[in-house]
Amino acid sequence: MDLQGLKLAIVGATGVVGQETLRLIEARYPEHRNLKLLASKRSAGRKMEVNGKTFTVAETTDDSFDDADLVFISARTEDSRRFGPVAAAAGAMVIDDSSAFRMDAAVPLVVPEVNGEDLDWHNGIVSIPNCSTTPLVMVAHPLRQASPLRRIVADTYQSVSGAGGAAMNELRDQTRTVMHGGPAEPEAQPQQIAFNAIPQIDSFTESGYTREEEKMINESRKILHEPGMAVSATCVRVPVFVSHCVAAHLEFEQPVSPGEARELLSAMPGVTIQDDPERGVYPMPVDAAGRDDVFVGRIRQDASHTNGLAMWVVTDNLVKGAALNALQIAEHAVSRGAVHGRRT
Ligand SMILES: NC(=O)c1ccc[n+]([C@@H]2O[C@H](COP(=O)([O-])OP(=O)(O)OC[C@H]3O[C@@H](n4cnc5c(N)ncnc54)[C@H](OP(=O)(O)O)[C@@H]3O)[C@@H](O)[C@H]2O)c1
Repeated sequence: MDLQGLKLAIVGATGVVGQETLRLIEARYPEHRNLKLLASKRSAGRKMEVNGKTFTVAETTDDSFDDADLVFISARTEDSRRFGPVAAAAGAMVIDDSSAFRMDAAVPLVVPEVNGEDLDWHNGIVSIPNCSTTPLVMVAHPLRQASPLRRIVADTYQSVSGAGGAAMNELRDQTRTVMHGGPAEPEAQPQQIAFNAIPQIDSFTESGYTREEEKMINESRKILHEPGMAVSATCVRVPVFVSHCVAAHLEFEQPVSPGEARELLSAMPGVTIQDDPERGVYPMPVDAAGRDDVFVGRIRQDASHTNGLAMWVVTDNLVKGAALNALQIAEHAVSRGAVHGRRT
């Protein structure tokens, strides 16, 4: 079976992740025109061109999935909750970008390079992780070959596109306004984002962590199959348009040298090392934007722990952090014969 021959429905085709999905379909499958573009009622009737064919966006309803083999959902969490089970019941395999099903024990949470084998037990719905969790597990996983992991501390610097198209518009408009002495008037973010850093992504929980931080903690454990692993995260929104950064501190059972880490990371598919700090070579959001890989640099011994490594990880949150990971799940499922919605 080939992805080329499957009918793909994209819920949220007009959003930033949906548009990135369409760009990747054009890049990877230039002949693929068996698509259905879906969004909210607001976008119904809008024309979008993919692979030289003009598609009309339709409102997503319970009847939208009768002829779809694979459904990518990149909309609001409540839309995933509503339409995910409907699409799966209609016979499609659903790949969901939201947090709706990620921690559901019956739903695999997958980064194909790390736990692609989990696709074998899906029941119609597969989730992709949060856009900062994906790069973190992409670097943590290969390093486990050197020694079992004991603890991860991850602090993020996340771009506004992680909060969708409205937050990108807000950064652009607010920067202009504040530069000219005007008021910030935040709407898409909880505080002023222009010329600022906000230590809050999503709402706070009773633990004192935000929901975004809890996602990183719980999702990393689930993907790495390490339910008891010690993980802590602080997630910060910064005035960058695209790409998320993670300052990651990994502690192992045995010492792992930076050289050993570089060797293991360079053998990991989807990871590129950019690590020559003396010459100004390290990953940065402006360089990672629009690219497929997870970039890692500043790899060094953690000065606070003999068994620890510190590193700096950057990835395009819309590409490997969202659309590419979803598309790779579909490709991986095809190659494993795991596209087994009711229809296929
Ligand atoms: N941005 C990231 O880096 C990232 C990474 C990983 C996961 N995700 C997840 O991906 C999802 C989409 O995020 P985004 O950043 O692309 O958001 P976005 O730019 O705000 O786009 C939201 C999309 O959802 C659609 N939508 C809204 N209400 C809907 C409804 N009732 N029925 C069907 N579609 C509806 C919108 O359609 P209209 O244009 O018609 O309003 C739009 O296409 C979210 O669940 C997010 O958590 C995002």
